Amino acid sequence: MATPVSTKAEESRVIVALDYAGAEPALAFVDKVNPEQCKLKIGLELFTSAGPTLVSRLIERGFDVFLDLKFHDIPNTVAKACAAAGRLGVWMLNVHTLGGPNMLRAARDAVDALARRPLLVGVTLLTSHTQQDIGAVGLHGDLPERVDALAALAHQAGLDGVVCSPLEAAGLRSRFGNGFVLVTPGIRLEKVKADDQARTMSPRQALAQGADFLVIGRPVTQAPDPHGVLHAINRQLHESVQ
Ligand code: C5P
Repeated sequence: MATPVSTKAEESRVIVALDYAGAEPALAFVDKVNPEQCKLKIGLELFTSAGPTLVSRLIERGFDVFLDLKFHDIPNTVAKACAAAGRLGVWMLNVHTLGGPNMLRAARDAVDALARRPLLVGVTLLTSHTQQDIGAVGLHGDLPERVDALAALAHQAGLDGVVCSPLEAAGLRSRFGNGFVLVTPGIRLEKVKADDQARTMSPRQALAQGADFLVIGRPVTQAPDPHGVLHAINRQLHESVQ
């Protein structure tokens, strides 16, 4: 089993994707969990509707918040957005590696300058992408090779790690070592539909491949008993690292 990095014994490796339409349904979920059970991810939908106020409220409640806005713009704009996110007190934020080396370095410099530095990770290719999708946007070569090259860009620019599919985690772990944070969405519980995700794995398998943190959205948030599912995932993961 590949060795993951950076987690305290009591820390959950699960990041629940709060893909809700607004603060109210998101808080209805959060009200029933505590920061030892999961970290929380705020993405495009929830941030667009509920904004920095909700981010601050969740941080005040003691949660580690991953701001998943996948910044991808000119270096100056991305650097300023990263600084603004960092000042909110988020635990992790991300940029898109397709923004290129100058943009990645500008993002890294911006977080390095913060008093409280968040983890900065790069999105490689989306876990919904197939080989056909990447060909359609002009990326040639094998999908795993493209992911590897984009992860190398992130590594060279001094990012803390990448977001990747669990299918790529073992290769990236052996190439970039234990200090490189691997965050894997595309997690599906056994016997559950994949939705729009193309490259998926179960929580236990993803951990065994070397993932540090697992982003899990719909399998938890749309379950009839979201808290029961989260509890079961944590128990399984805990057992598998014993
Ligand atoms: O519901 P599901 O578990 O598929 O949610 C996955 C979450 O991870 C979504 O919020 C999605 O935006 C995010 N994500 C992803 N693939 C990436 C980066 C982020 O699915 N490469």
